[in-house]
Amino acid sequence: VIAEAAKEMDIKCYVIGGYVRDYLLQRGIPKDIDIVAVGSGIELAKKVASKLSGKPEISVFKNFGTAMLKNKGVELEFVGARKESYHFDSRKPVVEDGTLEDDQKRRDFTINALAISLNKDDYGTLLDPFDGISDLDNKLIRTPLDPDITYSDDPLRMMRAIRFASQLNFTIFPQSLDAITENKDRIQIISKERIVDELNKILSSPTPSLGLGLLHKTGLLEYILPELTALQGIEEIEGQRHKDNFWHTLEVVDNISKHTDNVWLRWAALLHDIGKAPTKKFDKKIGWTFHGHEFVGSKMTYKLFKRLRLPLNDKMKYVQKMVLMSSRPIVLAEDFVTDSAVRRLIFDAGDHVEDLMTLCEADITTKNPKKQKQYKN
Ligand code: CTP
Repeated sequence: VIAEAAKEMDIKCYVIGGYVRDYLLQRGIPKDIDIVAVGSGIELAKKVASKLSGKPEISVFKNFGTAMLKNKGVELEFVGARKESYHFDSRKPVVEDGTLEDDQKRRDFTINALAISLNKDDYGTLLDPFDGISDLDNKLIRTPLDPDITYSDDPLRMMRAIRFASQLNFTIFPQSLDAITENKDRIQIISKERIVDELNKILSSPTPSLGLGLLHKTGLLEYILPELTALQGIEEIEGQRHKDNFWHTLEVVDNISKHTDNVWLRWAALLHDIGKAPTKKFDKKIGWTFHGHEFVGSKMTYKLFKRLRLPLNDKMKYVQKMVLMSSRPIVLAEDFVTDSAVRRLIFDAGDHVEDLMTLCEADITTKNPKKQKQYKN
């Protein structure tokens, strides 16, 4: 239908971006399809809508030159091929009409710049001027232009690079990775909502430590979740050391991700030790302690959600509750759990007792098999 509409309008059009990437990676058929027209994307969308049976929902965004068409659960986004240039302090680009290749050049990564023709004379042909196919084969995230330009055009792309690396288990091309480290402070011009969207995608990926580790390595994490980077490091006093709670946290997030897709439980794993940085003390008698870190951590969770503009709703309360209780079963197990203690735990966890147990199991780090068994029991 799209090809037919474009032919009638005598313009060229292509499928581009995530749909092509995911189709080639056989990641299932995506529900969002981006169409680029060498001409008016809005007019093409209107023409397509008029040809589809039923009444497809169409939304036109005149300022952006785009139109969205919803049909049978599929979202089609139409845009006219464009050349974009950005001003240093703003996310709003200066936009001019362009060729398909101009449009591919303005995109974030070579694997997202692949286009498939919908035109009669070369229907189905893959157009790949930046060798995105080799990057798909070699599992590489690479920018079509100099990465400094691509990231400076839209600093959210630094997080997108890391998010795709984490979702797809790809490597970020070394020059692209260095450019993230160099441009990291530019992330501050990006809205919290967009940052959190990417963070949630990293947390939902199969092995979140891949993305979280890269956020840390490039220095982006310091801007986004300083509560976590504050956990890094091991101190030693009088020959006594504590574990590195940052790397431990990443291990816990990976462990829990093997058991659940619940992104809020993954958030709880990510935040379960954040109270340890402000409560850390060395006591001559007992060594390192983090007394009360669960309470402090649950208060910090509220502040962190507020700062990141995450909704302060029942999901936040759930994460807070998990953070508050995450260490208690271990403490109880060490003290030889009494029935009443278990009852209290179950009472406090309410409907989420199984989630809490999963979180606690993900947090068991002792290498001693006897203790492991005791904790699990
Ligand atoms: N894009 C870009 N720069 C951005 C965001 C998007 O160049 N900051 C381009 C990419 O070509 C991308 C396409 O717009 O493929 C669509 O963006 P989006 O829907 O956000 O991402 P997808 O690549 O489709 O991936 P996903 O659906 O997993 O988010």
